[in-house]
Order: sequence, then C-alpha cells, then structure tokens
Amino acid sequence: MKVLVVGGAGYIGSHMVKMLGQQACSVTTLDDLSSGHRDAVLCGEFVQGDMADRALLDSILSKGFDAVMHFASFIQVGESVQQPAKYYQNNVVNTLTLLDAMRAHGVNQFIFSSTAATFGEPQYTPIDERHPQQPINPYGRTKWMVEQVLADFEKAYGLRSVALRYFNAAGADPEGQLGERHDPETHLVPLVLQAASGRRPHISVFGRDYDTPDGTCIRDYIHIQDLCSAHWLALQSLVGGAASQAYNLGNGQGFSVQEVIDTAERVTGRKITVIDSPRRAGDPARLVADASQARQKLGWQPRYADLATIVEHAWRWETRFDKSS
Ligand SMILES: NC(=O)c1ccc[n+]([C@@H]2O[C@H](COP(=O)([O-])OP(=O)(O)OC[C@H]3O[C@@H](n4cnc5c(N)ncnc54)[C@H](O)[C@@H]3O)[C@@H](O)[C@H]2O)c1
Repeated sequence: MKVLVVGGAGYIGSHMVKMLGQQACSVTTLDDLSSGHRDAVLCGEFVQGDMADRALLDSILSKGFDAVMHFASFIQVGESVQQPAKYYQNNVVNTLTLLDAMRAHGVNQFIFSSTAATFGEPQYTPIDERHPQQPINPYGRTKWMVEQVLADFEKAYGLRSVALRYFNAAGADPEGQLGERHDPETHLVPLVLQAASGRRPHISVFGRDYDTPDGTCIRDYIHIQDLCSAHWLALQSLVGGAASQAYNLGNGQGFSVQEVIDTAERVTGRKITVIDSPRRAGDPARLVADASQARQKLGWQPRYADLATIVEHAWRWETRFDKSS
C-alpha cells in the first residue's frame, strides 16, 4: 500500500511513518519542518515542502497513492487565540488545497487528525461521538470545520475519510527511537519529565480547586503507539470500503495532573518541584474519551493503557542523551 503522510516529521506523524514502514507500506512524508524534525522520519521518501504548494502536491500525488494521512497543522490553543488567521490558513485553507489535489489525482482515502478540542466545554463525560461539537477556541474550530468539509466531500466526491479525535497523545516509541520534541512544549507529560530531568526548574499546576478527587484537572492520556495502531486500523477499514466515520480516541481512563506528577516521581525516582498557579481560562475539570466506537467498529485495543508505561517510555526519550539515568 502506498501512503502519503503529511506532517510525518512531527511527534505523532513520525511514529506513524515508522509503523507504516513496519507494515511494509511504501511511505512518502511531506513536511515543511515548521515544527517537525528531519531525523524523526525513519523510513520511506522524505519531501521537504509546504502542503500549501499545489504544484508540489501535484508532483507527489501524480506518482499514485492509495491514501493520505494528514497530521500537518498548527497545534497550540493559546497561539490560535492570538493569531487565528495563521490557524485558519494552515489548518483549514491548506487542508483544502491538499484535499483538492487528492481529488485531482483520484486519491479518495483520507485519515485526519482531529481533536477533543472540537467538543468544547464537556456537557458530560466520558465524551462519545454524539456529544455536541461546540469548540471554544480557533484551534478547535479549524478542526471542526475540516470535519464538516470531509462530510461534504464524501457526499459530493466520494472521498472517504476517518477523522480521529485524539484526547492527549503521550508517551514515546517503545523502542526508544522517537518521542515528543515540541518547541515550545505545552503538553503535560513532557513538561513534568523535563522538570524531573532538570531541563525545567519546576512544573506549574493550574488550579487545585476543581471538582475532582484531588482538585486538579483530569485528562485522558493515550499512548502514541496506541494512537498509531488506531490509524492503521482506520486505514484498513477505508481500504475495506467503509464509509466516512469520526472516532474519539482516548484510553477512557482519566488521570489527574497530580496523578501524572506522582507517577512521574515514581517512574523517574526524582523529586519534582511543583508550583501552584491559578486556574487557566478554558480548562475544563475533566476531559475523558468514550472510545467504545473505535473498539467496536475498528477492533481497536489499547496496548499501553496504564499511565506508568506511558511515563516510562516518555522518560526513556527525555533521558536519551543522559547516561546517568
Ligand atoms: N499531540 C496531541 O496530543 C494532539 C491532540 C489532538 C490532536 N492532535 C493533532 O495531531 C496532529 C499532529 O500533532 P503533533 O503533536 O504531532 O504536532 P507536531 O507539530 O509535532 O506535528 C505537525 C507536523 O506538521 C508539519 N506541518 C505543519 N504545517 C505544515 C504545512 N503547511 N506543510 C507541511 N508540513 C506542515 C510540522 O512541521 C510538523 O512536523 C495535529 O494535526 C494536531 O492538531 C494532536
């Protein structure tokens, strides 16, 4: 199978490229390296370029592909509030350019990285696919818009897609070759581990007065490898002729910010300095996925569901250059 991975030099995309290579797929990665890393693309062909470049997309897609996996977007919620034009341009307009190029070259199977942020403030948890989508920031709105575009494109053009709404991707390649390298980093697990390794002086906990057992926010952390296996199954479903579908992806178990810190202290054997800060606007108390649709319809089964394993793999990545750990 020939797969084009757009954004394959990023955190999630690079793990996916590795998995596709292990599944004996022929993989091409297109990435402009705006936040990705060339050395994270471990197999297949690599093309450095912007998905906004229609001529480049034409030259790649004219070689014939069975499917496109699309990870390329800007991902910072806070920045999307400050600079919405940047987000609508890349995440919506450039995605349309990609979809148009796919149509022109007869590629009609598409996997899209969507997000829990399309739901906005949860009306209930765990969040299933029937939960209303009312995003509360431009980042979430860009992803929600693309989901709607995809529904229309299936009806009008027969372009079938799976939108996977990730909750919090975390962890690293169990073989230690890949991991999270965002700059700036905004995700809790790497931030906590950077505080453990000494790359950061402390970790801030935003709010201890939420309606949760220990007062800190609860999130659903899904191991990067489990996320990738869901993409692989989603691809199989499309190849098998399935209609378009959106699935929520999380491991269905929530962990509080304090539990993540406690687990990180156990796994690393280090003391982590914590600074308590006020709540941040727009942080719901609980965000937990109901991923039973993905389990039932795709046969997805998370393999690394426990938090200690997620943290352990991320710690191995964080300390990859540190021989004393
Ligand atoms: N990390 C998470 O927890 C999470 C949660 C929900 C959804 N997502 C979504 O998953 C996808 C991947 O996230 P990630 O954490 O791997 O992000 P990332 O920033 O590590 O990866 C994105 C990649 O896309 C590339 N890129 C961006 N714009 C591009 C363009 N116009 N042309 C070519 N390449 C471009 C970047 O260089 C980068 O390599 C994103 O769409 C994100 O919105 C991530």
